[in-house]
Amino acid sequence: MITPSVGFSLSQWNSYIDGYSRICTSGAASFLGTGHRERRILPIRDGLGNQTRGQEGKIAIEFTLFENIMIVLGIETSCDETGVAVYDSDRGLISHEVYTQAVHAEYGGVVPELASRDHIRKLPVLVKDVLEKSRTGLREIDGIAYTAGPGLAGALLVGTSVARSMAWALGKPAIAVHHMEAHLLVPMMEDPNLEFPFVCLLVSGGHTQLVHVSGVGRYQLLGQSIDDAAGEAFDKTAKILGLGYPGGPALARLAEQGTPNTYKFPRPMVDRPGCDFSFSGLKTFALNTWNDSGQTEQNKADIALAFQDAVVDTLLIKCKRALESTGVKTLVLAGGVSANQALREQLQVFGQEKGVRIAYPSPQYCTDNGAMIAYTGSLRLMAGESHSQNTYTVKPRWPMIELGPPA
Ligand SMILES: Nc1ncnc2c1ncn2[C@@H]1O[C@H](COP(=O)(O)OP(=O)(O)OP(=O)(O)O)[C@@H](O)[C@H]1O
Ligand SMILES: [Mg+2]
Repeated sequence: MITPSVGFSLSQWNSYIDGYSRICTSGAASFLGTGHRERRILPIRDGLGNQTRGQEGKIAIEFTLFENIMIVLGIETSCDETGVAVYDSDRGLISHEVYTQAVHAEYGGVVPELASRDHIRKLPVLVKDVLEKSRTGLREIDGIAYTAGPGLAGALLVGTSVARSMAWALGKPAIAVHHMEAHLLVPMMEDPNLEFPFVCLLVSGGHTQLVHVSGVGRYQLLGQSIDDAAGEAFDKTAKILGLGYPGGPALARLAEQGTPNTYKFPRPMVDRPGCDFSFSGLKTFALNTWNDSGQTEQNKADIALAFQDAVVDTLLIKCKRALESTGVKTLVLAGGVSANQALREQLQVFGQEKGVRIAYPSPQYCTDNGAMIAYTGSLRLMAGESHSQNTYTVKPRWPMIELGPPA
């Protein structure tokens, strides 16, 4: 923070008043000789402590210079996690919390109406908590980012309504964030050296996609699942094995007890060209294998391992194709399944052999969280994303390729 006194002409000051920061932006930038800009203007005082607007001639303006900093509150409510975070483009993530709804466990899957109600109950508490922990006053927030889709309509509406109401009340921008774009970009939050272009393997509960990423909003879909997502296949197979919901992490833990090569599962669609996936057959294969087994605990672990091996192998084969077809040398994993240790290890081995950089977020940012929403919102806000205070909508279905660069 720098607090200089700089002389501005009256016309410049009036332009500032009328057009917000444009004049001071350029003034600050030239003052520092860099791309810095002001973000907070202290009260203008003449020698007597009066505001000087309206006076003729040169005036002394005292203002505080900050770098191009954005502090963004992020709200995620697309499914069964309530996530809230405060991201500061200067200091990084300052505070975040995720609450995973337990109410769905007894139903073996997410019940949309229960999800919405639980978000309503939990979101205000989390927002207060996260703001307190971040030591950020509401007025210091530069924008509020929220998940506008894809996801459950009711759940999305909770986060959207809260975010937009707060933004409206504070007179701050509200930024609608695409949930999958947030998954895709969050690895950059932790690794500032990660640069475009890269290929992203987006593997989550609802999506399995290979995407060529050349910038924020510049996405080319290389392939995707034609049926179940990888995370969905993990969850369904875990259910068959009686591991509860969501079962992906439990299945991965159980696989550690498995004996390699006891069962051999198919690698779906690897004999077909391209980068599409199909995982629905694997759960049927798991069901049949389980029914034909002695149904011991060891059988369970062996099936878990064979299933996981098949998913990881298949993902690896398609990732190699995506990298070959694009010539890109960086592969980023994102989404809940990217927390899978076997997947990370196999891709790391491949990366070391082939000179491909492999990047993935910490496990806590693989599954749904508010940090990825705050981070993505800050990137778009800083790049000049436009926003409206008026009508808004949620998009339960929202193909990511519909996105463009911030505009
Ligand atoms: N260690 C793991 N191994 C395998 N799967 C995992 C692991 N950890 C989480 N998952 C799976 O990740 C999925 C949750 O990820 P995520 O929160 O990104 O999905 P989602 O938000 O429900 O779906 P989407 O992001 O596509 O809308 C679940 O299917 C879960 O089983
Ligand atoms: Mg998700």
